[in-house]
Amino acid sequence: SIEEMEARIHIIKKQLGDELFIPGHHYQKDEVIQFADAVGDSLQLAQVAAANKRAKHIVFCGVHFMAETADMLTTREQTVYLPDMRAGCSMADMANIYDTERAWEALQQLFGNTIIPLTYVNSTAAIKAFTGKHGGACVTSSNAKTMVEWAFTQKERLLFLPDQHLGRNTAYDLGVPLEQMAIWNPRTNALEANCAIEDVKVILWKGHCSVHEGFTVKHIEQLRQSRPNMRIIVHPECSREVVAASDDNGSTKYIVDTIEAAPAGSQWAIGTEMNLVKRIIQQHPDKTIISLNENMCPCLTMNRIDLPHLLWSLETIVAQQEGNIITVDEQTAELARLSLERMLARA
Ligand code: 13P
Ligand code: SF4
Repeated sequence: SIEEMEARIHIIKKQLGDELFIPGHHYQKDEVIQFADAVGDSLQLAQVAAANKRAKHIVFCGVHFMAETADMLTTREQTVYLPDMRAGCSMADMANIYDTERAWEALQQLFGNTIIPLTYVNSTAAIKAFTGKHGGACVTSSNAKTMVEWAFTQKERLLFLPDQHLGRNTAYDLGVPLEQMAIWNPRTNALEANCAIEDVKVILWKGHCSVHEGFTVKHIEQLRQSRPNMRIIVHPECSREVVAASDDNGSTKYIVDTIEAAPAGSQWAIGTEMNLVKRIIQQHPDKTIISLNENMCPCLTMNRIDLPHLLWSLETIVAQQEGNIITVDEQTAELARLSLERMLARA
């Protein structure tokens, strides 16, 4: 039963003490978050993983790329586990290393040595390693602006991957005109540009998050009609049109903090993942809060991590069995760390 599983997890947590650390992303289910030792967005979780030198076992409640990042930032004595190996990320899967290397070659032909790669942490370790190797850095939604500004101090133009929306929204906010942003289409291995090639400043990889693409301008228009006093806040993984039509936008942490600081009685429609929106609603009974899309928008892979999988993962540690261990090979990790460290030094 649920109660038995919860009781067992409490016992194991007590038994392992400081040797166990459970980071939990904001998009995880409540049944999992209740056991998290730290809850945060992807940047915060990368930072706590890097800071924790005591825990031998890190059971990552999030998705695969986050567990890879934690493995790369922790020591050899620390092991990172992902309670369900099927907890991937469809956005991260949109940029594979083969297509990326092929794109880079073509872009070198077009632009020579004037591009720097910037990679959203929602990407595989191989893409982070590619980025590190070519002098680039990682970004998260909390520090994307700082990192894009940094990239422009290094090179004339940047390749942003894998999320076109975060790239476009961030560059737009920094004053890059939309027509100077081209799209790299990995299916056709071609650049889709709306200006002369030499004027392209930002090359956006054609990837997206299907959870955040679930919020549309139509949802916003309907809401403006039916609830004109509602403020709309969305994640920058939403499209440019949705971000432009909203009142505010920012990372997961920014959304959490903004609602926290909002006055009692204020009304909010939030455009981000369902588990987080539900939790924010519960935590703020003094405010009127809804999801911007009434069908909510769950992240199916985040939801793979549930109570039974968390318990199973903890049991493998107690029984000293081979669990779902996440290890990034040292060659990849060394290069990927360059891109992560360039970010952490500035974030
Ligand atoms: P942040 O936690 O950086 O806001 O990212 C959102 C996300 O989609 C995580 O998968
Ligand atoms: Fe990936 Fe989007 Fe899910 Fe985040 S919310 S893990 S970006 S699919």
